[in-house]
Amino acid sequence: MVVPGSQHKLYHPPEGLQKDAHVPDFNCYLELYKKSIEEPDVFWKEVASDFYWKKPPTGQILQYNFDVTKGNIYVKCMEGATTNMCYNVLDRNVKDKNLGERVAFYWEGNSPDHREAITYGQLLGQVCRCSNTLKQMGVRKGDRVAIYLPMIPELVYTMLACTRIGAVHSIVFAGFSAESLCERIMDSQCSILVTADGVYRGEKLINLKQIADEALEKCREKASATVTRCLVVKHHALRTQDGDVSNKLQTPWDAACDVCWEEVMGQVSEQCEPEWLDAEDPLFILYTSGSTGKPKGVLHTVAGYLLYTSLTFKYVFDHQPDDVYWCTADIGWITGHSYITYGPLANGATSVLFEGIPVHPHVGRFWEVIEKYRVTKFYTAPTAIRLLMKYGLDPVQKYDLSSLRILGTVGEPINPEAWHWYHEVIGQKRCPVVDTFWQTETGGHVLTPLPAATPLKPGSATFPFFGVEPTILNEHGEELEGEAEGYLVFRRPWPGIMRTVYGNQERFESTYFKKFPGFYVTGDGCRRDKDGYYWIAGRIDDMINVSGHLLSTAEVEASLTDHGAVAEAAVVSRPHTVKGECLYCFVTLKDCREFNRTLVDELKRQVREKIGPIATPDFIQNAPGLPKTRSGKIMRRVLRQIARNEKDLGDLSTMADPKVVEVLFNHRCETAS
Ligand code: PRX
Repeated sequence: MVVPGSQHKLYHPPEGLQKDAHVPDFNCYLELYKKSIEEPDVFWKEVASDFYWKKPPTGQILQYNFDVTKGNIYVKCMEGATTNMCYNVLDRNVKDKNLGERVAFYWEGNSPDHREAITYGQLLGQVCRCSNTLKQMGVRKGDRVAIYLPMIPELVYTMLACTRIGAVHSIVFAGFSAESLCERIMDSQCSILVTADGVYRGEKLINLKQIADEALEKCREKASATVTRCLVVKHHALRTQDGDVSNKLQTPWDAACDVCWEEVMGQVSEQCEPEWLDAEDPLFILYTSGSTGKPKGVLHTVAGYLLYTSLTFKYVFDHQPDDVYWCTADIGWITGHSYITYGPLANGATSVLFEGIPVHPHVGRFWEVIEKYRVTKFYTAPTAIRLLMKYGLDPVQKYDLSSLRILGTVGEPINPEAWHWYHEVIGQKRCPVVDTFWQTETGGHVLTPLPAATPLKPGSATFPFFGVEPTILNEHGEELEGEAEGYLVFRRPWPGIMRTVYGNQERFESTYFKKFPGFYVTGDGCRRDKDGYYWIAGRIDDMINVSGHLLSTAEVEASLTDHGAVAEAAVVSRPHTVKGECLYCFVTLKDCREFNRTLVDELKRQVREKIGPIATPDFIQNAPGLPKTRSGKIMRRVLRQIARNEKDLGDLSTMADPKVVEVLFNHRCETAS
């Protein structure tokens, strides 16, 4: 591996933040970390004491087997205890902590004119109504409920209602196609689908109910229709004083199947006794794409997920009672599950629930929302930061961002240029940037700085969270000490780790535990520097071997985006007769920059200078747009195929804008740049 210069400047936590912090300095982090590893039972018991347990656990807090050679893989947390997630995140706050009047969510619609504040007390009432509605529709403990809703309060009501009555929610991001929705409904045999008639995403009106109907029709065609009823929310932002645009949707209605949310919710009681569940009963299923084959239904269970999301939220965002927290993710992804719904609510936090997109109705929308609600903690993705960087300083400087105290990122490695822009322009150098590494499978943050305790290095997710024991292995499964690069794995479970792939324990074990017995394999490459900081190098399949040297595409991308003309870059491997593989780079330029020979030479020089001659790209092509999934992840598989001029691109159903592919083929480099 070519290790770039390890002279990283450290960014120390601001003193103002340290004063009241939960983990005020690095020594405190080290002490707590030691306790979490040496005495996990004591550590997690203390965390659990904050929550309500109908029955206490009977055995050890964490029990597990991580070694496939010794039997089935399992993890159990708080075995023997009974509890309820919804009770802990709502009733406990309203009744025990007297937070009924506190705002749980400031809902901000796609249009800045649409907003609503929902208190904890109101949330509890709506969730109970929805629980009673689901029960009336026949949903029982253990049943699966598919949710295909936009970012509206009803999405939160429904997911919490499921947890209240012991049903298992399976949320499908409302940007997925009918085919993907059908596949997910069928895999987990959902009995009910909850959707909305439509939604505006930016300027575009999306007919959700029509997509949902198509999905149900596909399920019927495949002769395994399990959904009996469809609960439909009439999106109230489509029906305002200024007019009713819902008639544009011409929503089809099948009285035998469809149930109108507004009608039934008015008829049921605001009281609903929670169902007391075993600690290891399923909480939800969330699908994540597999490197091969169909998506995997990642299953999380009640008690461990509660403990882990609440603790990570509290420490990683250093939650304080006067905070206004905003995570820009969609609840359809794990980030929204853990850090919009469960983690914040378990802490009695006040959050912004945002339906919109970053560039509608103008490119300063994020900054406008921060000013409007005086947001103190802001959590977003590097792809959003890079997008907004392109528009320069003007849209940011129009707004007052002085309320911000902590910034967070998630989802992919953040390149230094984006990190610095985020830190300097958005955080005005006073806000630590918590770069949180985790996965759908991990349930919550596993490598992350703590804002008042951890000195930061831009681009590093720094150190493990409490209870997490990372290590780095080489190809032969040997553990590497000190400065090293290889496979990132975890030696033991933490409460929030997934329990299985729904209905497919074999796939669970073979995907995550077979390659290196005794370890959970993340699938990510990782480097540990001489100071012990962890640097995620991207997926293992994104590592490129050039003349026997392993190069991280993320590192090459970071050095390309460091150039003033480049907004975004993606690097893939292309076969090379002498070197084995070589680097093929796609670069998206900032507005008004021109792609020409001089720029290509400058970029090659830049990469050579930052990483070394071995990393010099062979190909640099202009990419006016990159193929991305709807969640904003670059589809490297497609880029690899374009680089190789493979015209048959296979399944593109998860791509946000398939039109970019043709443009990329037109700009392809035939010969080395
Ligand atoms: O490759 C890592 C990358 O995203 C993967 C997990 O994706 P997903 O399950 O969709 O969850 C995303 C949100 C938690 C990881 O295997 N990843 C996530 N966070 C980071 C990251 N890569 C680098 N740095 C991060 N902070």
